[in-house]
Parts: sequence; C-alpha cells; structure tokens
Amino acid sequence: MRRAVYPGSFDPITNGHVDLVKRASLLFDEVLVAITDNPNKQALFSHAERMEMAQVSLAEIPTARVIVFRGLLSNLYEKEQCCAIIRGLRAVSDFEYEFQMALMNRKQLRRAETVFLMPSLRWVYLSSNLIKEVARHNGAIKDLVPEIVCRKLKETFAKK
Ligand code: PNS
Repeated sequence: MRRAVYPGSFDPITNGHVDLVKRASLLFDEVLVAITDNPNKQALFSHAERMEMAQVSLAEIPTARVIVFRGLLSNLYEKEQCCAIIRGLRAVSDFEYEFQMALMNRKQLRRAETVFLMPSLRWVYLSSNLIKEVARHNGAIKDLVPEIVCRKLKETFAKK
C-alpha cells in the first residue's frame, strides 16, 4: 500500500486542490488529504466545514481519504505509514516556502519525502485566499471551486 499525504489548510478546497488529488491518485494507492491549521493564516471555515467540503468535492476519487489532524505533519506521516508528502507548486514564488517545509519535514523524520506536483494551467493562479477575497465581494468564483464550496462561500459571506 503506497499512501501519500497531501497536507494543507484547505480553507476552502479549490479546483486546483482537486486537480492535484486526481494527479496524486494516479501515482499512489491512497491519497490522505490531511486538513490542519496554518498558524500564519486565519481560517474562515471550521475543521468540520473544511472536511465536509473536501469530502464532497473528492467523492469521485475512491482512493482519496480526508482527515483533520493536529500537531506535526511528520508524526502523521509516521503514524499513517506514508511514503510521500504531496504539495502543489504553482509558480516560482511558491518554491522557497515549499523548499523550507520539505527540508524541515525531512529533518523531523528522515524518510519523509516531498513530491511536488504541478496543477493544470487552468488552475495555476488559484489560491484559497484569492477565492475568499473575490467571494467576499460577490465576485465570480463558480468555475474555480467545487459547487459545495461556491454555495458555502456565498452563505458565509451573506451572513457577514
Ligand atoms: O495549505 P497551507 O496553508 O499552505 O498548508 C501548510 C501546512 C498545513 C501544510 C503546514 O502549516 C503544516 O504542515 N502544518 C502542520 C504542522 C507542521 O508539521 N509544521 C511544520 C511544517 S515544516
């Protein structure tokens, strides 16, 4: 069983994330989509909401499993006996942060390998932060996120 973990804040999941899970599912037997908090970001959605949106969005990928975790990614990697960490690289600007994280994860656990995948060009400019910013001002996000995410964003910002 070759299991890869795809960690992230997924606040919320976008079509770019879904694209990456699809690509990873062709390479690994199971893709563990692992949701956690990024201390540098203020989350809009709760863990339960992020998990529901990810589960519904990934329902067509039978080898994807969604979990919420706390603590170090390297501990989860060991506990779930993963053989790779999946991260997306959209542009050169992502590289420095991703490079640091990959090496820090390897420092914590020597066998933690990071595999970088590139999303389709269609999604290369997407980020959860940008989606939230556009949605907050009622902009067009319909083709950029799964349907459940579009609905949840609209509901959330309508209340604010
Ligand atoms: O989607 P994001 O916000 O870029 O994901 C960042 C994330 C969640 C992958 C990172 O913050 C993380 O791995 N957090 C878990 C705690 C941890 O292990 N931190 C050290 C990473 S080197």
